[in-house]
Amino acid sequence: MTGPERIDASCGADGCGGKILKPGEGLLKEMEQYAARNYVPIVNRDTAELLIVLGRLIKPVRILEVGTAIGYSAILLSGILAPGGRIDTIERDEDMVLKAHEYIRRAGLADTIAVIAGEASEVLACLDKTYDMIFLDAAKGQYPAFLPECLRLLKGGGLLVSDNVLFMGMVDSGEPVGRKKRTIVNNMRTYLDMLRSDPSLDTCILPVGDGVALSYKRMETEMDDEQGQNSQET
Ligand SMILES: C[S@@+](CC[C@H](N)C(=O)[O-])C[C@H]1O[C@@H](n2cnc3c(N)ncnc32)[C@H](O)[C@@H]1O
Repeated sequence: MTGPERIDASCGADGCGGKILKPGEGLLKEMEQYAARNYVPIVNRDTAELLIVLGRLIKPVRILEVGTAIGYSAILLSGILAPGGRIDTIERDEDMVLKAHEYIRRAGLADTIAVIAGEASEVLACLDKTYDMIFLDAAKGQYPAFLPECLRLLKGGGLLVSDNVLFMGMVDSGEPVGRKKRTIVNNMRTYLDMLRSDPSLDTCILPVGDGVALSYKRMETEMDDEQGQNSQET
């Protein structure tokens, strides 16, 4: 039996029953090769492993992804869903949507992963469910515009994972940035400032892959605790 068939056989409609599909194996390996051949940007190995560890800690029931591409990270994330969990993932490129559907079907995950075709800013505004984890991996320059909707859709106690926030080291370097990349870098600096200054978030930035920001959204009680402590101190 070849890798992809073996995965089809082992995955049910419920996120493979907690079975993690590992980078470099079976269908994910085939997808990595497809992505490399066709210049499709997917999460690199370090970021994939970070997502698995984070997911194991959070055990999300609902995940939202912005930026599906061929469905690689969505299929990877399906392995860390809580039983019965679901992933919604947004993609605007029609060819990518078709390819993602094909791989998701082959992984036996059509009932677990919903690919929502469309421009993320429009789709996000229409969503009304809330999510335990949001993975933001789309057009870098649009992150500041996506943030308010992502925070509306993220549960208290949930995690926002933003990929590529250091953009080839340019965002934190302090070095002058060439004209072509300046807008993206400036937008990403604005985005990191927004994350760091939001009182509902605790954010750290990890130099993993192209830079990953982890933002924990505080629960109501955690907001109150801190406010209470501050008023006692003054
Ligand atoms: C880096 S790739 C996503 C890779 C995927 N998360 C993975 O690791 O397997 C970014 C994808 O986001 C899509 N994208 C970029 N901006 C978008 C937007 N504003 N709305 C919807 N999709 C967008 C692109 O078409 C591209 O396929």
